[in-house]
Amino acid sequence: MRVTFPNPLGPPITVDTAYLSNLKERLPRNASILPSLQRRPHFRILLVIIGFIIIFTIHPRPPFPPNYSIEWRQEATLPQIKGDISVGEGKNGRYVKFDVPRGTGFNHQVSRKLDAESQWVSTNSTLYDDRLQHHLAVLGNRSLAFEPYVEDDTYLPFAISRWPWRSARIPLSAYISTVISGFEKFYRSPRAVPAQYYRNVCPSYKEQLHTIVNDNRPQGDLELVADGQSRIHQIQVLLAGSEENCVRIIGEPFDDEFFDSKASLDLYETFVKSPVMKHFTFSPTVLSIINRALPILSPESQPYDIEAISQATSQDVHKTTVWKHILAMHLRRGKDWEQVCEEKGRRAAPFVSFNKLPLLPGNENVPPPSTMVEATRMGLYKAKCLPETLDIIARARRMRKNHPLLKSIYLLTDLGENDEGGWINEIKMWLQSEGWDNVFLGKNDLYNRHQDKELGVAVDMEIARRAGVFVGNGFSTTTSNIVLLRSRDGIHPDLTQFW
Ligand SMILES: *[C@@H]1O[C@H](CO)[C@@H](O)[C@H](O)[C@H]1NC(C)=O
Ligand SMILES: *[C@@H]1O[C@H](CO)[C@@H](O)[C@H](O)[C@H]1NC(C)=O
Repeated sequence: MRVTFPNPLGPPITVDTAYLSNLKERLPRNASILPSLQRRPHFRILLVIIGFIIIFTIHPRPPFPPNYSIEWRQEATLPQIKGDISVGEGKNGRYVKFDVPRGTGFNHQVSRKLDAESQWVSTNSTLYDDRLQHHLAVLGNRSLAFEPYVEDDTYLPFAISRWPWRSARIPLSAYISTVISGFEKFYRSPRAVPAQYYRNVCPSYKEQLHTIVNDNRPQGDLELVADGQSRIHQIQVLLAGSEENCVRIIGEPFDDEFFDSKASLDLYETFVKSPVMKHFTFSPTVLSIINRALPILSPESQPYDIEAISQATSQDVHKTTVWKHILAMHLRRGKDWEQVCEEKGRRAAPFVSFNKLPLLPGNENVPPPSTMVEATRMGLYKAKCLPETLDIIARARRMRKNHPLLKSIYLLTDLGENDEGGWINEIKMWLQSEGWDNVFLGKNDLYNRHQDKELGVAVDMEIARRAGVFVGNGFSTTTSNIVLLRSRDGIHPDLTQFW
């Protein structure tokens, strides 16, 4: 029997009671409530209903992940959806949706896995993948239909089988404000809408479909040129030239291979100056977390103006100051990451995407000349990818000597509670003993509230963006997100470095 429940946060939820019988079989035989359950099937349904009421209404946190009801509601009531429309918006508006198929082909899977880090990559799209789509939409004079960030493919609000529980879907506006701020209006382009709205106004018979040709989809109709800038132009012409209201593009306009290659640098200049990047800020939710931490992080600086950030009012952008006293260091660790480093070394891989920007110090000898012997090369990759404790301390010391304004350290790391042997705490202790005013670790010092943890990556990135000096990991896409934002802000390239 199937039971359907209304779901205030998304599509209705259907549960098959057969699933419950399976569940029952897995329970220990002597569980005392079971006999009565077997006798009264209705009681089981009642239990399920009560369970759902608890999940959706009472929703105790922890252990339940946050439900982002404010952000979902805000996305669903954007003015461009509620009828306050300008040219190209509303029922007869012009839209584009990019559909990146999940896990296309073996190579794709492998390279993604090897790059697997933090949330931005586990969505199988990085911050700038998303921003590039938005950039293309604005250039093509179309409204971008954006998807939420998907952590787990389940109809439930979270995957019950994975512990600790974390949200299956997070509204994009919980991370970044660019999708809801409506800045596009000031460039005479239609504003972005959530994909759910797109599906209402663009039923499939109204869609003009294009499939990007690649190894897995040779039958596609859209063959992209190699050069980054020409590729952008090609898609712009397609989007702006089409008479159809709804255009859907299947496939990744910019894939991993593209970001590994030098082609990603071709589009850097125009991308970094584009309206999308110019107006990029993290979300009100993320910046509120930092506002709460300001008294310990940077007592003298102005809090973020949350109102102004959630809504663009002109082509002007909100400038922030640099936190000259903060040295931010990105430390990637863990078994998966060790494998990534190993693989990068073995194939003499370059730094990822914008970490290759020529002005930045520390990327000039990666990849090394092919004459370098293998052992030396592996050593080089290890030092760049998995710096040792002593190197980390020495680097911090050297940075303070060169930049005497530095007083505090902010450590970005993906190491969670399962940090074996407390490596990160050891680093923290070493640094504290060197006489730094503060050594901050996001998850302990800034976003330690349960409901803030899922947004921690964005908090880390924003602090690293504003830090006086940033030392990043050249093989990390989180670092390359930060590098892109720091170069946009015009921070001197010497202040953005790598291990
Ligand atoms: C992302 O890719 C990995 C494999 O590389 C896959 O296991 C995961 O399910 C994908 N995630 C999504 C949301 O598609
Ligand atoms: C977008 O298209 C509309 C008409 O549909 C036009 O008025 C507007 O100027 C265009 N915007 C840009 C930036 O070309």
